[in-house]
Amino acid sequence: MDETTRRVPVGVIGTGSIFNAYALGLSAIPQLPIVRVADLDGERARAAAEEWNIPAWGTTEELLADPEVQVVVNITPPRAHAALTDAALRAGKHVYVEKPLAATAEEARRNIETARETGKLLGGAPDTFLGPSGQTARAAVDAGLIGRPFAASSFVRSSRAETWHPDPTFLFTEGGGPVLDWGPYHIAALVNLLGPVSRVVGATTRAADELTVTAPERRVERVGVTVDTHATAILQFASGALATAMYSFDVWDTTLPHLEVYGTEGTLQVPNPNRFDDPVLVKRRGDEEWTELPAVMDPLTPAGARAIRGPGVLDLVRHLGGDLHRASADFAFHVLEVLERLERIAPENGAVEITSTVKRPAPLLGIDVGPLTR
Ligand SMILES: NC(=O)c1ccc[n+]([C@@H]2O[C@H](COP(=O)([O-])OP(=O)(O)OC[C@H]3O[C@@H](n4cnc5c(N)ncnc54)[C@H](O)[C@@H]3O)[C@@H](O)[C@H]2O)c1
Repeated sequence: MDETTRRVPVGVIGTGSIFNAYALGLSAIPQLPIVRVADLDGERARAAAEEWNIPAWGTTEELLADPEVQVVVNITPPRAHAALTDAALRAGKHVYVEKPLAATAEEARRNIETARETGKLLGGAPDTFLGPSGQTARAAVDAGLIGRPFAASSFVRSSRAETWHPDPTFLFTEGGGPVLDWGPYHIAALVNLLGPVSRVVGATTRAADELTVTAPERRVERVGVTVDTHATAILQFASGALATAMYSFDVWDTTLPHLEVYGTEGTLQVPNPNRFDDPVLVKRRGDEEWTELPAVMDPLTPAGARAIRGPGVLDLVRHLGGDLHRASADFAFHVLEVLERLERIAPENGAVEITSTVKRPAPLLGIDVGPLTR
């Protein structure tokens, strides 16, 4: 049967915050029906199944034993990814995992080996670069619209997860942080546009050790911060291009762009790479104004599924025949390795000590800072 229409039933493990986005996205793709959901919290799985008319719900073991499920979508927190992916591959399922592919590159590497051993496909988010924005930007770069791309900037500008996620604990512990939580969108977008990364230098810090959760439907009141939540880096691409990056959960707000690519003939303004279909703008040498590029639309992805999570799962099942899918484990692994290297950078690794020091200049006297305090 044609890979573009073949029905491939999906089982989803994890019915937390991001589940509705997947349920909505996949509901627009008739060939990918969700036939079963599972969650550690059985009640949450049941409620999700009822809300989305999914015929079966239960434990992960039941999902993996269900012969109808051919593809498992693993959208549990990062620290649960590797073990569940391994179990699903060994149960004979193809697997698509939310980002990061695993909490560590080492775990991800083992998952990739298991996929090879079992002959099953393994793919991973982000799939945002498959959306209209990512593909429009890619078409512009490939067409030479900005000449030779020699540099980029990439800024994760804030997250405020503590203000909206009911339990943001995983975002502030191993496998989370701005580098591993948001970084994947940026690195995936950059690799899509500029090719692989070959070197990274940088440094990380954190602004607080604990945060108060203010999300209206919070399940926890406070979270301990055990990973660095502000990173700054220089990425060098195999092409020679350089990117300046700042990935932060600590910055409250900023006017920095999400992502820009600088070419010898102009600049490409790429929208938030955590979204699928915002406009891509270009300003070429001599232009006075930014011009919005016509969006590139994949004719094989149903319109309702283009701007929401799911294109990566569709990309995977379209390649069950054997060709390399785009949101592949190898792609997600490269993204994870870059980010893990950045997160684990030791100060002595590539950094040059400054030998001089200086006292911070005293402020001018007599300035009234009253209006600035509250
Ligand atoms: N929330 C978002 O906006 C968002 C956006 C993009 C990607 N993601 C990614 O999606 C994944 C899930 O994030 P979330 O925000 O939905 O998390 P969440 O904590 O809201 O939900 C995770 C769900 O997985 C379940 N779970 C945990 N361990 C499990 C296990 N071993 N077996 C079965 N179920 C288990 C939990 O009970 C929970 O219901 C993460 O990888 C995250 O990076 C989240």
